[in-house]
Amino acid sequence: MGTARETRVRWLCAVLVLVCLTPSITGVVDVTIVSKYQFFAESADTWLYCYYTGSLVNQNGYRFGVEVDTGSGTAFTPQRASGAFIRGTSSRILDTAGDFRVGAFSCQIRDGNQTGKAITFKMKSQADVWPVAFTVTASLGDPVTLQMVQKSNRTGTLEWRKGGVGGTVLTGQNGLNLTITSVQSSDEGIYECYYQEDTDRKQGIMRLIVRDCAENKWGPPSCTDDCPVCYNGGVCDDNTGECVCPPGFHGHNCESACSYGMIGTSCTKACASGDCTGQLLCVTDPYGCSCPPGLMGIECNTGKTNGTYY
Ligand SMILES: *[C@@H]1O[C@H](CO)[C@@H](O)[C@H](O)[C@H]1NC(C)=O
Ligand SMILES: *[C@@H]1O[C@H](CO)[C@@H](O)[C@H](O)[C@H]1NC(C)=O
Ligand SMILES: *[C@@H]1O[C@H](CO)[C@@H](O)[C@H](O)[C@H]1NC(C)=O
Ligand SMILES: *[C@@H]1O[C@H](CO)[C@@H](O)[C@H](O)[C@H]1NC(C)=O
Repeated sequence: MGTARETRVRWLCAVLVLVCLTPSITGVVDVTIVSKYQFFAESADTWLYCYYTGSLVNQNGYRFGVEVDTGSGTAFTPQRASGAFIRGTSSRILDTAGDFRVGAFSCQIRDGNQTGKAITFKMKSQADVWPVAFTVTASLGDPVTLQMVQKSNRTGTLEWRKGGVGGTVLTGQNGLNLTITSVQSSDEGIYECYYQEDTDRKQGIMRLIVRDCAENKWGPPSCTDDCPVCYNGGVCDDNTGECVCPPGFHGHNCESACSYGMIGTSCTKACASGDCTGQLLCVTDPYGCSCPPGLMGIECNTGKTNGTYY
């Protein structure tokens, strides 16, 4: 027999149906890292924000990290961590940090025995080459093209490397496009394209995410399970079979949009000053990064409908 307490709980759940359902909507740790902005001017400060929607009150704090050495090491140095970093949810990276501002930065959250990590990017607006997209998600065996575009009038020899300084220089790759005919798990990583004589960190940076199953399949290594349909550009997590939704969308199949300026799997987090325009929003793999809903372009400041600037 149900106790009075259970009855009360059921009643509460009926009333607060969204609140009660929220924790079961996703099994993945919901973390979003926001780059404001993904391109910075020579003399500008730049920000990172980390958002986390957890079911545990007692989380282990927000941790920023540097994913690979893009030329200034992998330490989240004091230069990279001024301002509110002590409180843990955002970091203002001062202009005086110079080239330390360039890189692939992450926020990692531990919720119980689960870990979630999201990775974002910062580049010089004066960079010689810009990526067409900061992340590309591919499924095992897919053909993939990592695409850069020339932004300066610099000439010389282009080079690609994977995994940062001390990583692998990809010999024979000297164009703006890097093509992989059949992608493997080992291809996942952070790629940089730069002019050989560049000493000013004017490289383009991007990341390739590889799902360990063929498209629409999950559960490696056999990958026999079928993925759900993920709407609005959501991507099926190869390990859990759940949809990882684009920032600003939620629901089991990413079928719902958050209200304006809101993010997170329960739409409870707001971008700084309530507007995500022009910022790069990145969530956990295998989704990666994208613009706020309704915006596109590498700077996330172009309207999707008519291509004019806001
Ligand atoms: C994680 O923790 C939950 C509850 O604490 C437990 O049921 C589950 O088995 C754990 N999972 C792993 C992979 O350790
Ligand atoms: C490249 O462009 C800059 C300004 O955009 C100009 O000052 C410079 O002379 C150009 N360099 C070459 C080699 O064309
Ligand atoms: C790179 O690839 C894209 C798409 O395949 C193509 O449109 C573009 O022209 C290529 N760029 C170069 C420089 O080859
Ligand atoms: C293009 O989109 C922007 C932003 O929604 C809007 O302000 C502008 O009026 C639109 N222009 C046209 C011609 O529809």
